[in-house]
Amino acid sequence: LLTEQDCRVEARHLWIIFSSPLFAQICTEKKTILSVDDILSLIGDRCDGVIGQLTEDWGEVLFSALKRAGGTAFSNMAVGYNNVDVNAASKYGVAVGNTPGVLTETTAELAASLSLAAARRIAEADQFMRAGLYDGWLPNLFVGNLLKGQTVGVIGAGRIGSAYARMMVEAYGQFLKANGEQPVTWKRAATMEDVLREADVISLHPILDKTTYHLINKERLAIMKKEAILVNASRGPVIDEAALVEHLKVNPMFRVGLDVFEVLFSAWDAKFYEASESNLPMLIICCRQDEPFMKPGLAEQKNAVVVPHIASASKWTREGMATLAALNVLVYLFQKCKLMLYIMAEGHVIYGLRWVL
Ligand code: GLV
Ligand code: GLV
Repeated sequence: LLTEQDCRVEARHLWIIFSSPLFAQICTEKKTILSVDDILSLIGDRCDGVIGQLTEDWGEVLFSALKRAGGTAFSNMAVGYNNVDVNAASKYGVAVGNTPGVLTETTAELAASLSLAAARRIAEADQFMRAGLYDGWLPNLFVGNLLKGQTVGVIGAGRIGSAYARMMVEAYGQFLKANGEQPVTWKRAATMEDVLREADVISLHPILDKTTYHLINKERLAIMKKEAILVNASRGPVIDEAALVEHLKVNPMFRVGLDVFEVLFSAWDAKFYEASESNLPMLIICCRQDEPFMKPGLAEQKNAVVVPHIASASKWTREGMATLAALNVLVYLFQKCKLMLYIMAEGHVIYGLRWVL
């Protein structure tokens, strides 16, 4: 057990890098995405714990630097941790945390919004209005898809995917396709191909790893209904975006709602990380240059609604993610201390934190 004295010593050296926009104003003026070099200079020669963002490549270089600086704890401020080489973290004795739970409903709500926005061509119609093109009501103006009678499919029914399914059934279940007079519920499909063939609206919620990289490819797009809606609020590389652009071009009634995007340059090719404990193959898409770019041609497709990775961007959730990430690090660093302090932030009872006062 650490003595009170030990804890004070540790606290003196506790530097947490808050590179999130929420903490940026408190801790640094920097509001841009940090590069590996930026982070190396922030770590410096003494750093006990770090909060990182999903845009950063937490691999060999950063974890070895963190270890040299005496660091033992890292938390991603994200539920996804495909940007973290857990194997390298283990090698350098750094504990890794993420922020599940607090973003489940917020992310599911965005996926539901994208489903409706794609179905009813909201973004396209908004641009039309702003361009001053609205010249009076017409029967064929922005005719879209009706959810009534449609089948909704979820690929990756974990926390977020299940919340999305629940939302769609609770909000639209009275309209969605039912068997005879049965109330709408959900069923587990035998294969992913069954979902792709049968569903009118499909939302993707898997983690990104080797098995889900380009899960939606040319062949799988081809078996989907010509007027299907595909939503992705998971990770960009789950869809082969170049194949999607081609598909959108030749199928104008096919619509997508995208919150996440794939890499543009081959220089930013996917690297696969093998996670040590779970043995899950992890995929890292190198930071910084990946997401802000869309594949050529996507921006011109009217049948695509695109938003900039904002699925978890509600105030409540971002505060919850930031708090949970901070507590992941603090709790780990202070785990041997004696008193228990409960932290509440805007309705989140996040964690019990043991501390010596
Ligand atoms: C956001 O994309 C997250 O993984 O939290
Ligand atoms: C992640 O999979 C989550 O649902 O929070």
